[in-house]
Amino acid sequence: MKKKILNILKNTDGYISGEKISEQVGISRAAIWKHINKLKQDGYEIESFTHKGYHLVFSPDIITAEDIQNGLNTEFIGRNIFMYDKTDTTNERAKAKSNAPDGSLFIAEVQTCGKGSRGRGWQSPKGTGIWHSVLLKPDIPPMEVSQITLIAGLAVCKAVGLNSMIKWPNDIVINGKKICGILTEMSAEINMIHYIVCGIGINVNMETFEDNLSDKATSMYIESGKKYPRSVIIARLMNEFEYYYKKFLDNGLSAILDEYKEHCVTLGRDVNVIFNKETVSGKAVDVDENGSLVVETSGGIIRVTSGEVSVRGIYGYV
Ligand code: BTN
Repeated sequence: MKKKILNILKNTDGYISGEKISEQVGISRAAIWKHINKLKQDGYEIESFTHKGYHLVFSPDIITAEDIQNGLNTEFIGRNIFMYDKTDTTNERAKAKSNAPDGSLFIAEVQTCGKGSRGRGWQSPKGTGIWHSVLLKPDIPPMEVSQITLIAGLAVCKAVGLNSMIKWPNDIVINGKKICGILTEMSAEINMIHYIVCGIGINVNMETFEDNLSDKATSMYIESGKKYPRSVIIARLMNEFEYYYKKFLDNGLSAILDEYKEHCVTLGRDVNVIFNKETVSGKAVDVDENGSLVVETSGGIIRVTSGEVSVRGIYGYV
């Protein structure tokens, strides 16, 4: 009902009386007033005057399954959407519904317990970012799952644009600051995957970050001066994701590797590879057909698998 009333307001130039709305939707004027108040609580600005009625002045950017679906050209990724106003973390929601169809998408307006990589948290405030997880059920060996994180990174890079680049394996950065993080989790047996949850967090319309993050994190708004409708970005990302994911399933990582490398800011840079007990310095020279980072060190070439270690640029975050 709230949605119906919102659509009427959106399609009305100027004011519409409570009486007219009530005729159109078949509930009392008092009930209309209650729904209008709920819309106001959701962030809609609605003017109301006796004898004139209601007028929608401002709509907040709210993610809706309908708006996402309008922008999708995928076969299965993002076709089945679970929306949460507020949840702990979309990765856990996806795991709890792992019987849902391949490609299902779990989205929250706000996460109360956002998870980052290496046990860190992930700030997921309301209304400004995209906090979502894709459930995937590929028929590939568990060893190859880390390659899917590279695909997700490339897809984000293409969907975000704005000269974003990939910090190997899958952080997305602009001007040396992080705009997106990806946390992939899986349930598998030794030789069989049950499911993968690819959790993607994108900083879209944030104007500022807390002090401890402001030198490391950025948003699409900070980089471009423009605010973005998040549903449109999600649809764009799902389209890119499926495009690269299908290429990968059909022909392996080599099918997308050149494009990945073109967008990988780590290549050619001096890096520190941080293992459990030691740190090795070298130059990142390649990403191989398994998705490993190839690093030239004084002791020879080493291949670094994502998830095993952390790679830091010697000069700053990238
Ligand atoms: C990182 O630390 O770089 C990974 C961050 C991943 C954040 C996303 S937001 C959607 C999904 N839900 C979570 O709790 N984490 C991931």
